[in-house]
Amino acid sequence: MGRFSRITNAMAFRELAKARLPAPMFHYIDGGGDDEWTLRRNTEAFFGYELVPHYLVDVSSIDMSTKLFGTTLDLPFFLSPTGMSRLFHHDKEPAVARAADNFGTMYSLSTLATTSIEDVAAIGTSPKMFQIYVFKDRELTRELIQRCKAAGYTSLCLTVDVPIAGNRERDTHTGMTMPPKFSLGSLASFALHPHWALNLLREPNFQIANVVQRIDALKNNTMSLIQYVNTQIDQSLNWDDAAWMIEEWGGPFAIKGLQSANDAKRAVEVGASAIMISNHGGRQLDGVPAPVDCIQPMRAAVGDALELIVDGGVRRGTHVLKALALGADACSFGRPYLYALAAGGQAGVERMLTLMQAELSRDMKMLGVTSIDEVKANGAYVQRLMS
Ligand code: GLV
Repeated sequence: MGRFSRITNAMAFRELAKARLPAPMFHYIDGGGDDEWTLRRNTEAFFGYELVPHYLVDVSSIDMSTKLFGTTLDLPFFLSPTGMSRLFHHDKEPAVARAADNFGTMYSLSTLATTSIEDVAAIGTSPKMFQIYVFKDRELTRELIQRCKAAGYTSLCLTVDVPIAGNRERDTHTGMTMPPKFSLGSLASFALHPHWALNLLREPNFQIANVVQRIDALKNNTMSLIQYVNTQIDQSLNWDDAAWMIEEWGGPFAIKGLQSANDAKRAVEVGASAIMISNHGGRQLDGVPAPVDCIQPMRAAVGDALELIVDGGVRRGTHVLKALALGADACSFGRPYLYALAAGGQAGVERMLTLMQAELSRDMKMLGVTSIDEVKANGAYVQRLMS
């Protein structure tokens, strides 16, 4: 088990990340919008449900594989798109994509990534997703879609919950900028994390890699993420644009960030193949529902017309099982692998995935199920909290 043998669950990487990262980088991962009520609620809401175990079932052999986007993943969870991995570890997105590939699951690359579409496509054989933010430069979107087609991505997802950047007050306090700036305020924090700071000086490979050819908004300057998003994002994005994009892509397409039954129906109408039920990890509008609480109403609204992915607060094998039993097809998460990446690069992410995989296997046996389809088959394995 080596270096991370004392780490016993996915969230335990958070403390390691906190120790290893300068404050601006740690709080950028860890923080949320406004009062962070939704951020907290995302995980807490899982405790509003109980699992209902079925005993005396032969669980000597179980299968965790899951069908999603017409492909098979070895696990019912994958890695959500997150921006700017270079801020957290010099091995960046490829370290995470290699770890995902070694576990037979999907990596999603963000528009705000610091590695190119093509470099990530070259890693392993597992399915890859690309996440789209629509910038005012609409040609950029067309170009991203074409590059993903040429590079063989399995699916696209369109993030719709960022018409404007959320109010991340921690980032305002820490002065989080991209690329990182050794400003007076953060100098102490950088000095206290010499390992990270030296790596940044040695490998200053920070670029919004898939955007920079068309828009070099950063040039040689630094800017806060909030400023960057707010200057680039196209606030006029609407359902007609989503329909256009789905047509242009012509393959598996998820809309990420929906939370209501009404929007779920519209996603079916425009031809989406999946919804990532998400509130952006509590980083956007504060006070919205937790994704796990949206599963049943959204499933009731769409039936089997599309796949539902739960993104938000998933930290345990039991969370995955609850989401599946409530009607989701798969789960995804971001922060757990970013903490693990910050703590130890690819080895950290692999340890985190080992723990999640082991938890899920153990939990399936204790729940009395041998396959993911069995968990999803009916409501027999979950109920609302009784007390
Ligand atoms: C970007 O999508 C962020 O949530 O920081």
